[in-house]
Amino acid sequence: MEVRRAVKGRYAKIAASSASDCCAGEGCADKSVPISLGEAVPVEASSASAGCGSPLLLIAPREGDVVVDLGSGGGIDVFRASGMVGKNGRVLGVDATPEMIWRARETKAKYGRKYANAEFRLGEIEHLPIESSTVDYVISNCVINLSPDKPAVFSESFRVLKEGGTLAVADVTLPSEIPEGARKDMDSWSACIAGAVTDSDYKKLLKRAGFKDIQVEHVSDSNIGKYLFRYHSSHIKATKPTAGPLRPR
Ligand SMILES: C[S@@+](CC[C@H](N)C(=O)[O-])C[C@H]1O[C@@H](n2cnc3c(N)ncnc32)[C@H](O)[C@@H]1O
Repeated sequence: MEVRRAVKGRYAKIAASSASDCCAGEGCADKSVPISLGEAVPVEASSASAGCGSPLLLIAPREGDVVVDLGSGGGIDVFRASGMVGKNGRVLGVDATPEMIWRARETKAKYGRKYANAEFRLGEIEHLPIESSTVDYVISNCVINLSPDKPAVFSESFRVLKEGGTLAVADVTLPSEIPEGARKDMDSWSACIAGAVTDSDYKKLLKRAGFKDIQVEHVSDSNIGKYLFRYHSSHIKATKPTAGPLRPR
């Protein structure tokens, strides 16, 4: 409860401001990693952007695909994916902070029909408000580290993906365990640091949820001033296995 309250409090404030920062003060996740894919996105979404990489660099959604963005915030990756999947596709952003959902819906409304295939749903990524086996890609940008129940996030992602579907994530990972004191620091948790897990734990959790072909790639390495430990901004990819032969994509 304490984690969820701290996280929602921080992101409600960010939703109400024009600052594009996941973090404030000491103990911030690295913001220098590549996030641009070159598409124009609404300025209202990029100014609320709080990611730590770009999950869409890892995949190539096509016309008609269904994409879900876990922790969609101001909607930057939802709006990016919207153009990729076209009018026959859908992009669903899920976020637990009402102020973020309102902001993203307001942005969508400003652009008329341009983002008609995009939808923002209030909900927790540990209990996705989405039907099983209906999604081609689950993406997420600097959010899963914030969850106090990562096994639930991965099992929900697995549930909503179609067979052969892909999970593509930008997130913070750690080279080694961090001090217990740091884990209890709610400012550091909501700044995308103290809730992060090691690369090997990330892989284990994904495997336990049923994923295969799990890859974790470091995009950048940084140090945190407050606790003096290192962390990575990482790109993570995994696949939901198929029961039969893989359908062509
Ligand atoms: C660091 S921001 C990233 C936002 C967005 N992905 C981006 O790249 O700009 C984290 C977002 O995840 C949301 N969030 C954090 N924990 C969540 C959870 N358990 N369920 C749903 N949303 C969550 C926050 O409300 C916030 O909007």
